[in-house]
Amino acid sequence: MTKIKIAVFVSGNGSNLDSLIKSVDSNILENASLELVFSNNKNALALEKAKKANIPILYDEQINYPTSEEFDLALLTKLKKYNIDLIVLAGYLKIISPPILNVFKDRILNIHPSLLPDFGGKNMYGIKVHQSVINSNVKISGCTVHLVTEEIDKGRILAQSKLDVLSGDTPDKLAKRVLELEHNLFPKTINEFIHKEMKISSCACYAKTS
Ligand code: GRF
Repeated sequence: MTKIKIAVFVSGNGSNLDSLIKSVDSNILENASLELVFSNNKNALALEKAKKANIPILYDEQINYPTSEEFDLALLTKLKKYNIDLIVLAGYLKIISPPILNVFKDRILNIHPSLLPDFGGKNMYGIKVHQSVINSNVKISGCTVHLVTEEIDKGRILAQSKLDVLSGDTPDKLAKRVLELEHNLFPKTINEFIHKEMKISSCACYAKTS
């Protein structure tokens, strides 16, 4: 059976990448292969994790291009070379622009560390999300896996996991517990998405558009 070829985009620590690697090994994520890890940050720890797992890595930065669109057009060419079917954003801190969004419509998944639509949108990433959750005194937080569209953090929600915000929580403590939920939710949701919403035998979405 043809496997869905996944490119994982990262900018930071790569703990979600790690959980995806383990999930492919343990078949929680079936019929999928991690073909490529792309980063816009050459110092991302995630790149080291990819190297250790023998996944090809690519790195590029916005400074090499006049616009975001041109950056993404160059990236698209690389994705085509690897015949990527599905993009997974695992802590990728760059907005995806139309050249990639159009070709990979409904084929880009992101994980966000709050219960969207709450605490999402422009500039809501990392510890800022957890700080806002604590400041707002909500009692429940969690994480969300959703499709990526032009509107930041507004794409269709695929799955969420919840936890209680505890009275002694700091943003760091909360972030740590939410990350544990993410590591469980993301691979399972990607797996479900592949099986329910992608035709495993006909991959390479840009084949239709070229
Ligand atoms: C996670 O909290 C994820 O929800 C957000 O970025 C963080 C990435 O963490 N999009 P890591 O690099 O996977 O450890």
